[in-house]
Amino acid sequence: MYNSTDKHFQRKNKWFQTIRHSVFCNLTLKDNSGGLYVKKIMTTVFTFLKRRNYKHNCQVGYSSMNSVLFVMKYTDQQLHSLSLTRAKLPRHVAIIMDGNGRWARARGQLRAAGHKAGVERLRELIRFSSDTGIRALTLYAFSSENWVRPEAEVRVLCNLLVEYFNKEIVELHANQVCIRAIGDLSAFPARVQKAVRAAEAKTAENPGLKLNIALNYGARAELLRAAIACCKRAIETCQLPVQADFEEHLYTAGLPDVDLMIRTSGELRLSNFLLYQLAYAELYFADCFWPDFTKEEYMRALRAYAERGRRFGGL
Ligand code: FPP
Repeated sequence: MYNSTDKHFQRKNKWFQTIRHSVFCNLTLKDNSGGLYVKKIMTTVFTFLKRRNYKHNCQVGYSSMNSVLFVMKYTDQQLHSLSLTRAKLPRHVAIIMDGNGRWARARGQLRAAGHKAGVERLRELIRFSSDTGIRALTLYAFSSENWVRPEAEVRVLCNLLVEYFNKEIVELHANQVCIRAIGDLSAFPARVQKAVRAAEAKTAENPGLKLNIALNYGARAELLRAAIACCKRAIETCQLPVQADFEEHLYTAGLPDVDLMIRTSGELRLSNFLLYQLAYAELYFADCFWPDFTKEEYMRALRAYAERGRRFGGL
């Protein structure tokens, strides 16, 4: 067994490099029980943390190297010091990452530079969402309407996607993030589909942040797809569907509704994004372009959300 400061362990375990911002502990165990022993230890660790009121603040994961990893997220006190309250954090945040092109133009750069800067912005925000215990984050990366952009720009976006999934997967996986693409991936070049599917497969069992990347996504197409699936089921079972049956066929099945929708760049539109899931979402429009949407801007949005009175039709 090694502790997290053991040099040999640090060298061997790539995770060590990527999770240093969290309070964490790694244990590597000799395990001849086909994983049962490790799982038992994990359960014990998790129960211990729960008893100590860390239940919302930690994740426990298990790697193929027989390592147990638990990542402690922000404690209530740490959140408080950022003027955030756990109970008032949204469970599901959706973001329209708008303004990459204008960001680049304002600097006399090509649109591609704006998209590249936009991708750079992701790491910190995903990390913060994960560490604060937000359940789900859905990012609008490529809409079903974006195909009308010049071919060269579409190519740049595809390349960025491949690069992103290949490069970031280690850190995302280490942080127990579960990645899922929503939308019709089949229209993308094979290299994009391959990178996305590989990221999904690698992280499928992760218990942490559900990170949905909307790719060739449009809410109307999603609703039609769900309606068709519902009709088919109704014909097979001779039963009229109820709301829950319909929701099962949405890409976001199993996730909470969106609590907070953020759009950057000052545009005040929904642009065919999650129209069903946004039914009761609080809307937040940031004036800055997406590449300028820092963690501080994100916290500002979270604080604004915390101050909203949500009534869901009640008083
Ligand atoms: C909107 O800005 C942005 C997009 C259409 C693409 C957003 C994509 C990324 C940030 C990168 C890819 C994402 C991942 C997950 C790797 P715009 O180009 O419409 O800007 P403009 O309105 O100023 O022209």
